[in-house]
Amino acid sequence: MKIFLDTANVDSIKKYNDMGLVDGITTNPTLLSREKGNPAEIMRQIVKIVKGPVSLEVVGTTAEEMLEEAHRLKKYGPNVVVKIPMIADGLKAVKKLKSEGIETNVTLVFSANQAILAAKAGAAYVSPFIGRLDDAGQDGMALIREIVQIFKNYEFGTNVLVASVRHPLHVIDAGKIGAHVVTLPPEILGKMLTHPLTDKGLSAFLSDWEKVKKENPNLAI
Ligand code: E4P
Repeated sequence: MKIFLDTANVDSIKKYNDMGLVDGITTNPTLLSREKGNPAEIMRQIVKIVKGPVSLEVVGTTAEEMLEEAHRLKKYGPNVVVKIPMIADGLKAVKKLKSEGIETNVTLVFSANQAILAAKAGAAYVSPFIGRLDDAGQDGMALIREIVQIFKNYEFGTNVLVASVRHPLHVIDAGKIGAHVVTLPPEILGKMLTHPLTDKGLSAFLSDWEKVKKENPNLAI
């Protein structure tokens, strides 16, 4: 399972990248709007820090606008994956970009039918938004199950990228289903990393070792 960070926050990206936990990044206009500074500069920095794929999203809504933006974004670095919305013109842009060897991530996917069409058009990744489906009273993880099954049945080369993840259990469920990638807000990666019993256990080990040191003043290990 690959872990991407779903953020445009450079400090969080550096923090988790230094631990070897970041296989890639997904950004979107909302995530960039939360950061201070020039968004183009932020995107350039992210592309340099992370070795894996970095999804940068277009904001145009016609195929022509998306293609023009995609070509500009691709100049940020070879690991840029162009994020394209799941609309008719988006799929037209995906097909053209695929023919040029540019990878795409089709975003805002909310049904298995949309995922099939994005894969047929040539997307490298499809991003079903499970948290937003859960919020709307639908079972987001059921959608992942469907898409993974269909892609397996037909050996589609498109990666299922689980997006809009809201809690660590989503990650475990996505892993059990066999989704290729989960993209996580940094807070969720932080929650996955910690456990109260780890902290309790470590503090017991350290205080017991203090006792050992008192009994053996010259001890060095
Ligand atoms: C995916 O690439 C999106 O950036 C993201 O997962 C959206 O999640 P949200 O529903 O938390 O905004």
